[in-house]
Amino acid sequence: MADASSFYITTPIFYVNDVPHIGHAYTEVAADVLARWHRQAGEDTWMLTGTDEHGQKILRTATANGVTPKEWADKLVDEAWKPLLETIDVANDDFIRTTDARHELNVQKFLQQLYDDGHIYTGEYEGYYCVGCEEYKQESELVPGVGEYEGQLVCAIHSKPVERLHEKNYFFRTSAFADRLLALYEERPDFVQPESARNEVLGWVRSGLADLSISRSTFDWGVKVPWDDTHVVYVWFDALLNYITAVGYGEDDAEFARRWPAQHIVGKDILRFHAVIWPAMLMAAGLEVPRGVFGHGWLLVGGEKMSKSKLTGIAPSQITDTFGSDAFRYYFMRAIHFGQDGSFSWEDLAARYQAELANGFGNLASRVIAMITRYCDGEVPRAAERSDADREIGELETRATQASWSAIQRLAIHDAIAAAWELVDALNGYLTAEEPWSLAKQPQQRERLETVLATAYHGLGTLAVLLSPVLPQATAKLWAALGAPGTVQEQRVDRAHEWSVGDRVAPLEALFPRVEVSV
Ligand code: MSP
Repeated sequence: MADASSFYITTPIFYVNDVPHIGHAYTEVAADVLARWHRQAGEDTWMLTGTDEHGQKILRTATANGVTPKEWADKLVDEAWKPLLETIDVANDDFIRTTDARHELNVQKFLQQLYDDGHIYTGEYEGYYCVGCEEYKQESELVPGVGEYEGQLVCAIHSKPVERLHEKNYFFRTSAFADRLLALYEERPDFVQPESARNEVLGWVRSGLADLSISRSTFDWGVKVPWDDTHVVYVWFDALLNYITAVGYGEDDAEFARRWPAQHIVGKDILRFHAVIWPAMLMAAGLEVPRGVFGHGWLLVGGEKMSKSKLTGIAPSQITDTFGSDAFRYYFMRAIHFGQDGSFSWEDLAARYQAELANGFGNLASRVIAMITRYCDGEVPRAAERSDADREIGELETRATQASWSAIQRLAIHDAIAAAWELVDALNGYLTAEEPWSLAKQPQQRERLETVLATAYHGLGTLAVLLSPVLPQATAKLWAALGAPGTVQEQRVDRAHEWSVGDRVAPLEALFPRVEVSV
């Protein structure tokens, strides 16, 4: 078992056949918010993301573009996938590519061990294959095509025709692990989350597991099977192993023991691979299963999963160029219940930006800093005797801190933000009720004015810490304006209310400036 304070979180590794859209960015932001939160709670945190570069899908795209698959992957990684992380302000600790030597060599090591231990056999398979999913499909997973594909069976996810394949392959005895998998789901009810995902996984395993074809011999863009170089490893088997090859599996036992097991964040379309096949692979190798697998929902467009292949993909920069990366992060984490599907709309984004970020949080921050500047000459006021209303703010700071951290531990990101937002609303209500601008006009109310401003100042600092995993840019600016020591990212988010106040405030530019949107 890894050290109790270790927190290792992963995103899926992304196919480099195309550029990212906001659905991919959604997965990244969710993992990043969780990672930042755990890091700021003092845990030994590691966030991994990366790219999935082998397989037929990438090979075909590269060929269609007249370059080698490695050239294609290099270009997409440098020009699209790594820049995405900056666009949405992701603070990952590592970026793995399945073409890295550290990955390829240890995939072979893993496979050889399974082969030597009798978990792999030669067999034949005939079935429908979707290159978009890089997966064999059952007939029940196909739907009748429309338009140009009328009369054909197409993949329900990609709406593109599947291919009939007949191959002699190596197989992994997944079926041998059905009972152990069921025992795992039983013993650790939160191994697969949310509940709807768990139920789906239970259904699949209960209805019987087929062995998995894990090699391909009709093309050679992949990791060579170590005992048979006429085959390459099936792209999914290769890809799943990134989660361990990135943290020292096969090379650095101390690092591996320190990091593994991971919490995986994945879209629900790839749940079967992560919650069934991956733990079975680990069991076969005698390694610990993941800490957990969370299957989030899809961003929908017109009721369907947003996707580049269906031409419904929106580039993340289209949003961040206008609203900024903080707003992107906030919007998707706040508006969508983590684990459920959600529809994106420009109207909703613009409305929440204005009401919640600009008027709710941003305006609160500006007002408090401006009043301390004006009425106290920039010196941070100290509270004298506290009223019930002042005490209520202090208590809410503690409650919001605890509630948001406990929500994060349940992976309920939307609840964590909602808990913090109670403090935004309460502070705005507090200022309206206490009217410090009126107190400022009455010299005999000086002590009360300072107490009110000190209370609001303290609440604002707690908010800066609490919201820093979601709004890293705005909260860093606010922290500087509060004149508090250190950086906001160094503060303990699980003890946000215990932050140390500063001596003087500094000017604060608008955290969420007005945007002109034409929608
Ligand atoms: N390469 C595999 C994952 C291998 S992990 C060992 C893969 N890549 S992907 O690029 O197609 O998708 C990566 C992630 O993006 C998946 O979790 C997928 O669910 C997510 N999304 C892709 N489109 C999405 C939406 N429209 N909405 C939300 N997430 C979406 O699968």
